[in-house]
Amino acid sequence: MATHGRFKNPVEATLTGIKDLFRKQPLATRLRPEDRLDGKNCLITGANSGLGYAIAVDLARRGANVYMACRRQIPEAGEKVKKESGSDKVWMLKVELADVRSVEAFCQEAKRQQLVWDVVVLNAGVTPARSRLTPQGLDEMMMVNYLSNFIMLRRFLEEGQIPNTVFAPASLGRSTFIPRVLFISSDSHQGASAIDFDLLDTYTSYGVQKAIHNYSYFKLVLNTFAVELARRLQAAEGKPEVSVNVMCPGPVNTNIIRDAPWALRVLLRGIFTLFFNHPPKLPGP
Ligand SMILES: NC(=O)c1ccc[n+]([C@@H]2O[C@H](COP(=O)([O-])OP(=O)(O)OC[C@H]3O[C@@H](n4cnc5c(N)ncnc54)[C@H](OP(=O)(O)O)[C@@H]3O)[C@@H](O)[C@H]2O)c1
Repeated sequence: MATHGRFKNPVEATLTGIKDLFRKQPLATRLRPEDRLDGKNCLITGANSGLGYAIAVDLARRGANVYMACRRQIPEAGEKVKKESGSDKVWMLKVELADVRSVEAFCQEAKRQQLVWDVVVLNAGVTPARSRLTPQGLDEMMMVNYLSNFIMLRRFLEEGQIPNTVFAPASLGRSTFIPRVLFISSDSHQGASAIDFDLLDTYTSYGVQKAIHNYSYFKLVLNTFAVELARRLQAAEGKPEVSVNVMCPGPVNTNIIRDAPWALRVLLRGIFTLFFNHPPKLPGP
């Protein structure tokens, strides 16, 4: 399959990201400390670690009701967020994103609690060093980095838990706040091959090299989904019913390399520590 991207592989994308850190880049906008989200229901997946954790603390400081969707560190991670943010409006919900049944159970629990989302941050991501099977026989990276997001969003949109009249015609519009969905993706998607839709639901085993490629590939799939979702949620007057956003955080020193082979992990940890941003230094989402 031909490669159409800007980068040959995620290593090249990462080096470009490091170079970008030294380039002065004006931000389109930056949240100020006084910008508040009081009473807004915010869901963050993978909020016990790295970027997701930093986002949870920031949103809690701004007065949001923060729901951390995680597979472990329950309730410790939530207690830490409460302590760091000074807010007690923090809750944890359990979800194993590699397991379709767990994702379904999570959606049912959110429905049972009648949770209506103002902000959904789809942040969780995984970079296994080789292929891994999910309980349903799918590729884990495909399931966590793409399909789980699709399943959750589809449920929330159809149930009106993200208010919209496109997928849930009977759902009530909520004040003037346009609900937001934010996908945490990666610029490394620019190194991926074109999407082969026939291969999306087939599992093939692979090693570290293909795993690195597939990380870019499933970010490309995620971005493509986001662009199409944004198009479908565009209301007639041109205003979005739901604001759908995709962002690359740039290089950040997190646990994303935890599954790398140990020698590579040691090397990458050094590079991450020396050159990468630290999550709390990031501007607000
Ligand atoms: N760090 C970077 O330089 C960088 C650059 C570009 C894009 N990104 C993207 O940023 C996002 C956040 O990653 P990070 O850098 O903050 O890494 P991280 O510290 O490893 O955080 C990843 C989060 O995803 C969760 N997760 C992974 N697999 C899961 C599963 N099966 N079920 C539930 N949760 C699961 C992890 O939970 P556990 O702790 O339980 O594993 C963790 O909370 C990812 O989408 C990543 O692709 C990161």
